[in-house]
Amino acid sequence: MESITIHDKNFVPYLKHDEIQELIKNLAEKVYEDYKDETPIFVGVLNGVIMFFSDFLKYYKGKCEIAFLQVSSYSGTQSTGIVYKKMDLTKDVVDRHIVLMEDIVDTGNTLENLFEYFKNTQRPKSLKVASLLLKPDVFQKDFTIDYVAKEIPNKFVLGYGLDYDELGRNLPDLYQLEEGRINH
Ligand code: XMP
Ligand code: MG
Repeated sequence: MESITIHDKNFVPYLKHDEIQELIKNLAEKVYEDYKDETPIFVGVLNGVIMFFSDFLKYYKGKCEIAFLQVSSYSGTQSTGIVYKKMDLTKDVVDRHIVLMEDIVDTGNTLENLFEYFKNTQRPKSLKVASLLLKPDVFQKDFTIDYVAKEIPNKFVLGYGLDYDELGRNLPDLYQLEEGRINH
């Protein structure tokens, strides 16, 4: 894996596609252990979740349904703290077991907003969260993330669905921002 440049920033290789697959397989098995007697709805939080969501489903061997919604809080490589709902939930989940699927949990603002939204409008039977990545050093909330594939340091990452100003989502591997070097 080589370093890459996206817009004005350099990114160094962080996690290879095969390593990511192994993490997701383990996570899917854990979720299955908890939900094998139910038909959960996996709710993907777009856009960053696309690759994780798709690979997770291939490893999940139980009955399940899927839905999506879209929110946004990032501008460039910084969280703005404001969460915008861009696309409404694609399926009614009232009285169902749902698992929110996230690419990455950073401050936890997005999830906090989503919890409110589900509590006020959908009232699912249960709500848990599965995230591919978690930045524990920045996560400031008092709820826990039920399933996490990997905890990572507080550095901006890209690839495997995650973007820097909309570019880089199609990279099969994960990259980390190289600090202290800016291209002009
Ligand atoms: P919060 O702070 O609300 O952030 O937990 C969650 C959302 O912000 C995006 N995010 C990132 N996107 N590289 C990205 O490409 C990152 O390092 C990163 N950190 C947070 C992401 O959309 C996530 O759902
Ligand atoms: Mg996201």
